[in-house]
Amino acid sequence: MLIDTLDEADLVVLGDNLDVLPALPGGAFQVIYIDPPFNTGTRQERLTLQTVQDPRGDRVGFGGQRYASVPLSRMGYSDRADDYLEFIAPRLVHANRLLSDTGTLYFHIDQREVHYCKVLLDDVFGRSNFLNEIIWAYDYGGRARDRWPAKHDTILVYVKDRASHYFDQEAVERIPYMAPGLVGPEKAARGKLPTDVWWHTIVPTRGGEKTGYPNQKPEGIVRRALQASSRPGDFVLDFFAGSGTTGAVAANLGRRFAMVDSNPAAIEVMTRRLGVESVKYLTVDSAGAVTPLKTRQ
Ligand SMILES: C[S@@+](CC[C@H](N)C(=O)[O-])C[C@H]1O[C@@H](n2cnc3c(N)ncnc32)[C@H](O)[C@@H]1O
Repeated sequence: MLIDTLDEADLVVLGDNLDVLPALPGGAFQVIYIDPPFNTGTRQERLTLQTVQDPRGDRVGFGGQRYASVPLSRMGYSDRADDYLEFIAPRLVHANRLLSDTGTLYFHIDQREVHYCKVLLDDVFGRSNFLNEIIWAYDYGGRARDRWPAKHDTILVYVKDRASHYFDQEAVERIPYMAPGLVGPEKAARGKLPTDVWWHTIVPTRGGEKTGYPNQKPEGIVRRALQASSRPGDFVLDFFAGSGTTGAVAANLGRRFAMVDSNPAAIEVMTRRLGVESVKYLTVDSAGAVTPLKTRQ
């Protein structure tokens, strides 16, 4: 079992999650956060550019120096499923099996598939174990002119068992009141607890958090989920891990993590982001064989 390895070190696994998940034992994880492809129908790609001095460059900087932008890296993954529910369903069945009795699933999706996934999750987890529909609202990028611009994602939250799930509201970072003048100085200084609508910026273009991986999610979103639904020392799983946001947050909060992704570019980003000292890197093939993975930092 891969979890034997997890006891010694945190885990990053390269492989199709449907090949990896059967190797993880039931009930081992307190939180599963997943942010699967949204089925946009197009390949998701990010080109990272680097600015270099070039006398023929099209940008002029300080002292008349000319600069050009050259491609530094291109990372991407396929985001098209002929039958999305057929793709996601067996993975959600594993998610349910892998959660502890007090555990919680955070399923991050957008308006294209959320309603179909809600019905599917009701089936897999039981309707009574639906805890929340979190709206992550942001405001960036282009605006459609022929409809209301779509500026939110949805995070469906399910627990393994509504009678025993763990949820510690007081462990969550408080946020400023929208109208602090209405609540008095003491309350305003303390801030308020977030509701199920989370206003949060996207990953800032400049700043340490940005990895260049397509559709990277902000650490602040995952932090809130882990603070409320897990304790230090608990195991956290993300089997659509991408740039490893969940692993980075888990490590910062003293949680243990297992990250899975089928894209070698994601594993490269995670190697840089999560380090190699306390993390074991493995690969799982379609026959379920587990082998150590050579990493480049
Ligand atoms: C939206 S991205 C996740 C981004 C991540 N939350 C972050 O903050 O960087 C979805 C990821 O799912 C991965 N993926 C898609 N199908 C997969 C599969 N069958 N098994 C494992 N990973 C898969 C893609 O390679 C991609 O990295």
